[in-house]
Amino acid sequence: MSELRYDGRVAVVTGAGHGLGRQHALELAARGAKVVVNDLGGDRSGVGASAGPAQEVVDEIKKNGGEAVANPDNVATPEGAQAVIQSALDAFGKVDIVVNNAGILRDKSFKNMSVEEFDAVIAVHLRGSFLVSSAAWSHLREQGYGRIVNTSSPAGLFGNFGQANYSTAKMGLVGFTKTLAQEGAKYNIKANAIAPVAWTRMTEDLLPADFADKLGVDQVTPLVAWLVHESNEDSGEVYTVGGGRIAKIFVAEGPGYGQNTTLSVEDVRDNWAAISAAEPLTVFKNVGEQMGPLIQQLTS
Ligand code: NAI
Repeated sequence: MSELRYDGRVAVVTGAGHGLGRQHALELAARGAKVVVNDLGGDRSGVGASAGPAQEVVDEIKKNGGEAVANPDNVATPEGAQAVIQSALDAFGKVDIVVNNAGILRDKSFKNMSVEEFDAVIAVHLRGSFLVSSAAWSHLREQGYGRIVNTSSPAGLFGNFGQANYSTAKMGLVGFTKTLAQEGAKYNIKANAIAPVAWTRMTEDLLPADFADKLGVDQVTPLVAWLVHESNEDSGEVYTVGGGRIAKIFVAEGPGYGQNTTLSVEDVRDNWAAISAAEPLTVFKNVGEQMGPLIQQLTS
């Protein structure tokens, strides 16, 4: 079987100074991509900054014979995100691949969560992914090629105690990914999202320690690398990945209930079983398709 290569491709990986992003950057560089290693270099909660982590990953890539440049900017600001993409243009003349991976945690039960804790997490994960993608978008469109991976989370898709800020950002990234996939389709820009599980500084006190060695970051990167490869044709999808397992996650709609007379609250009560039914499920490609059953009912 032929090896998947990224020769001639330029990849930007945000938050690549540690954990998952570092592994994505190392793997893409080892397979021929030129990589911008972005990392603000703060602690797990996003406090502080240091150019060290990004530079260390660049040094490692170069030692292994690869090509990379470090970028220490903050993806959560428009100037920082612009500078991340500008690093790729300055060093390598273009950008083909964007992996939005940078993230922080400010966990608190909802009762105790401050506006600052909410905003800080939204800013890095959701706003950061928007800003970096936005800075890259015109370049991807003009060249008629792009691959974007956004980093969501099972906590966003299914909810998690103490993570109202984080789960909001991570589910937001699903909608963002699906819209980018639709807007990017005619320019050969594919956008997908991952919901990973891996043992990093972000999760080392949250995941069961027994599984630490099986939940390596190297068990997530192969999916990311596949999604940003030119041979990947899928777009707008979400996958959970970790510990050697990958599964596609669907946003799906049940069969539902409809009537052609004005709906009352009693109608809702009396038809609750049909409204709540989970079989058969339909996965729609876009909101136009999702309107299908309603249009059918309105015209029947
Ligand atoms: P990590 O803490 O090792 O890596 C995150 C990196 O992002 C750090 O190096 C940090 O300095 C950088 N960063 C933070 N704010 C930044 C900013 N404003 N600008 C630039 N860089 C910034 O954590 P990990 O686990 O590798 O997380 C990577 C991504 O994966 C995050 O988005 C996280 O939410 C997501 N994720 C991780 C899971 C896991 O099990 N490790 C589970 C679900 C999602």
